[in-house]
Amino acid sequence: MTPKYPADSLTVLTDLVLPSETNPLNNLFGGELLARMDRAASIAARRHSRRIVVTASVNHVAFNRSIPLGSVVTIEAKVSRAFTSSMEIYLDVWIEDRESGIRTKANEAIYTFVAVDEMGNPVPVPPLEPQTEEEQARFAAALRRKQLSLVLAGKMKANDATELKALFTEN
Ligand SMILES: CC(C)(COP(=O)(O)OP(=O)(O)OC[C@H]1O[C@@H](n2cnc3c(N)ncnc32)[C@H](O)[C@@H]1OP(=O)(O)O)[C@@H](O)C(=O)NCCC(=O)NCCS
Repeated sequence: MTPKYPADSLTVLTDLVLPSETNPLNNLFGGELLARMDRAASIAARRHSRRIVVTASVNHVAFNRSIPLGSVVTIEAKVSRAFTSSMEIYLDVWIEDRESGIRTKANEAIYTFVAVDEMGNPVPVPPLEPQTEEEQARFAAALRRKQLSLVLAGKMKANDATELKALFTEN
């Protein structure tokens, strides 16, 4: 299969925070952000694979900053690594100052999607060739994140997670 670049799957989702989407502190409800990120990640995975894709796991979500009512929220999703049938999608979430237009990073998250056929069976996806320094760093770290996710899901023995183990044994 012809390799693809992260830019091929770039998906940008911009939307407002409305009153019905906030918690009692008038900040965006976490579940609403998860749903928006799931949508953006699924489009990115689809653009990379051109197949039906399903969410396999949500590997990491950092709610570092609250997102106030009325904010303009932009989610940028890109495939950060493709394995055999699975793809890691890295999401960066930005909020935009109303007056200056300056963007601030609010959150980030990492989702895993799997490409499947009409019967729901996993199918191969094209490899990914990272281009920028950030894309290369995310690509390099993706294997140990996959191993951690599989270990936590009980689908891989901790002993077989060699890349992950190296993280704890390296000086
Ligand atoms: C995701 C799903 C297709 C995986 O099926 P499976 O029978 O476990 O298939 P496999 O074991 O062959 O795994 C397929 C790929 O998924 C990856 N995978 C499976 N579970 C994973 C997890 N928890 N974290 C990361 N990757 C995972 C495997 O590593 C494998 O990747 P690879 O082919 O790139 O090496 C299946 O579990 C499924 O359909 N789940 C429901 C998806 C869904 O409905 N999502 C919406 C939730 S509401």
